Amino acid sequence: MSTEDLQSIEGVGEKIAEQLISAGIPNVIALASATMQKLVNLGIPKARALKILDEARERCSGIFGFVTGDELVQLFNKRQFLTTGTKALNDILGGKGFETQKVYEIYGPEGTGKSTLLHQLICTAFLPPDQGGLGSGTIFIDTEGTFSIKRIREFAVRFGIDPDEITKNVVRSQPPTSDTMLFIAEQQLEKMADKVNARLFCVDSIATHFRSEYGSERQMLPERQQKANRIIHALKRVVVAKNGVAILTNQVTANVTGMGLPWMHSMGNVVGHESQVRIRVRKTGDLREFKIEKALDLPPKTCLLTITDQGLFDTDKKPKTKAKPGTEDSDDTKAKDKKTSKKTEKSSKKTAPSKAAEPEEAEEEAEEPEEPEETEEAEE
Ligand SMILES: Nc1ncnc2c1ncn2[C@@H]1O[C@H](COP(=O)(O)OP(=O)(O)OP(=O)(O)O)[C@@H](O)[C@H]1O
Ligand SMILES: [Mg+2]
Repeated sequence: MSTEDLQSIEGVGEKIAEQLISAGIPNVIALASATMQKLVNLGIPKARALKILDEARERCSGIFGFVTGDELVQLFNKRQFLTTGTKALNDILGGKGFETQKVYEIYGPEGTGKSTLLHQLICTAFLPPDQGGLGSGTIFIDTEGTFSIKRIREFAVRFGIDPDEITKNVVRSQPPTSDTMLFIAEQQLEKMADKVNARLFCVDSIATHFRSEYGSERQMLPERQQKANRIIHALKRVVVAKNGVAILTNQVTANVTGMGLPWMHSMGNVVGHESQVRIRVRKTGDLREFKIEKALDLPPKTCLLTITDQGLFDTDKKPKTKAKPGTEDSDDTKAKDKKTSKKTEKSSKKTAPSKAAEPEEAEEEAEEPEEPEETEEAEE
């Protein structure tokens, strides 16, 4: 193991760095959390140990997250909101859409519109604040290969944005592994954000690499969770530093708890615990139901939206068809979606955006079992 990181602290030479590593202190972060006694037990004189610990702790103060109450008030007053482009989803998010300085998770089965929403948000983020945007660019971490510049340009027209302008303000990254995702999140995100004035950070999806690299082997889970945890922590730091919003999509796995729907979010609880708001999305008939599933300061409301080639829209419709149990994501259903969306597209041009469905109503309509895409029983 390299001693370089530890040797960057004054008073730590190669010998002490090696002693620290063999005592389970491999880097400056671990050193900052170590006790004075531990260093003294290694034979380091007390005064020198004190200086070493002081410097390591000073270096890590940003990571430990100490902020005074006054600074928190200033941060709170700086908050802004990012419109989703739909009144119904804005409403369940508290009225104005996604709030800055927060990390959101959106999970749901395939084809429910998670990536569509992110592409739509790239456009709304670009809008000026008086139109509900952040006046910002976006960094999009694409692990599924579904990032589409064509869709962004099409959605831009819907929001009255010049497609050529918006593409200058979007950066896509396609990390090939979870390690590269971690590296990007911890080392590159802030620097890259400055380049395109990005304050929207999308990860689509957080789960892809972890699921393929770690599978469901139990002994690998702690490492996987720690790494995912670090990625989300890095995003949390960036959204506070940039007064931005981070949105992670997540996939679904079989729900083996025997309660609720037959599927649930993948990645165990790590994403849900670390993100500040968890949103569940699913198909209900030919519509999409979004539900605030976990949030400190939002009630568990639901809303219904319709999906077209121009993205997600408000709708007055009730779900037309109820998918048969287990067929929600079948090819049949997708074919139906395409036909329905053509009609919706025409009518959505005529009708003004309309109110959300009543939460209770949407909840009732949507209680349909759906087919999980894959089982990952060992992860919880
Ligand atoms: N032109 C269109 N008209 C209507 N619906 C469309 C159109 N284009 C896409 N859709 C709908 O959007 C869905 C794709 O949504 P999206 O790719 O956002 O899903 P997702 O939740 O990201 O899925 P995954 O988990 O596979 O990444 C399609 O299944 C289809 O139902
Ligand atoms: Mg997607």
